[in-house]
Amino acid sequence: MYKGKHFLTCEDWTNEELDDVFDTSFDLKEKFKNEEPTRVLRDKTLFMIFFEQSTRTRNSMEAGMTQLGGHAHDLTADKMQLSHGESAKDTAIILSRMGHGIASRNCFYGIGYDYLSEMAKHSTKPVMSLQDDVYHPFQGLADLMTIFEYFRKDTKGLKVTVSWAYADTHSKPLSVPQTQALLFPRYGIDLTIANPPEFPLSENIIECANKNAQKGGGSVKIVNDMDEAFEGAQIVVPKNWGGFGAYTVDEFLANEEECKKEMNVNLEKYHDWICDRKRIKLADKNVKLMHALPADRNHEVTDEVIDDDNISIVFDEAENRLHTAKAIMSLTM
Ligand code: CP
Repeated sequence: MYKGKHFLTCEDWTNEELDDVFDTSFDLKEKFKNEEPTRVLRDKTLFMIFFEQSTRTRNSMEAGMTQLGGHAHDLTADKMQLSHGESAKDTAIILSRMGHGIASRNCFYGIGYDYLSEMAKHSTKPVMSLQDDVYHPFQGLADLMTIFEYFRKDTKGLKVTVSWAYADTHSKPLSVPQTQALLFPRYGIDLTIANPPEFPLSENIIECANKNAQKGGGSVKIVNDMDEAFEGAQIVVPKNWGGFGAYTVDEFLANEEECKKEMNVNLEKYHDWICDRKRIKLADKNVKLMHALPADRNHEVTDEVIDDDNISIVFDEAENRLHTAKAIMSLTM
């Protein structure tokens, strides 16, 4: 039914279609636990092209392909003629003639999603986003699967807070919080997004998230105060993202160095945006912590909170990357 369907964003999949993906994910998870074989992609090949580093995405896809009976090529742009300027179109045509699926991570702001869309336009096999500058659809699936496991399938009225948090590693893409902002309200979740004024999500994504909320029965609220956002939350997701949303793509690409400098100056104002025990106390007494990982420990979230087994469900969330990846691959390839 889904053979050949691209997976660039959850926005291209209806709730009914995503429900099939979740059913498949839960089935595959159970079979993985029982060590039952699930070799539905025997002799099939997936080409994965990473423009950036990855632990969870790379390994969930590669292990997933092995467990489904196929093989994944783990490619980086520098191993390919992409580094000499070969186009997305030519690459997609050629790889889709040699295998059964193409997956890629390209998070460059203003470039990544367009690059994947260009591949999808020319590939005769499904193209999957392993994260780009706008969306991280596999992460969204794993997040929602984990929420279903810890709360209930009917998530109407669940209070979830996605909050910007300080990190000193690198300017992270907007794609994780944007995917959550779009997806969670479709399932009736009341979502609060907190960020300092200089670190907004993209305006068009918030517009779509509000439309999704109207249709799905959830809601979207945006605040500039981390304490306010934590009050009564049943799930908190403290996560850093870069200040890309403060610029249009054209503005950013025209003045990239200036924008990056400004983002770094703004970042230093917000060291106190951290998920610590004090903030957890503001949330619901049974609050759960989620994070896509890697976490910038003791900047985004303290060790004490992320290592508290009564609160933190980050490793279940990470494991669910495997089961949801296998579901999408087994349904589309
Ligand atoms: N959450 C996530 O995408 O992790 P990786 O960057 O390690 O793939």
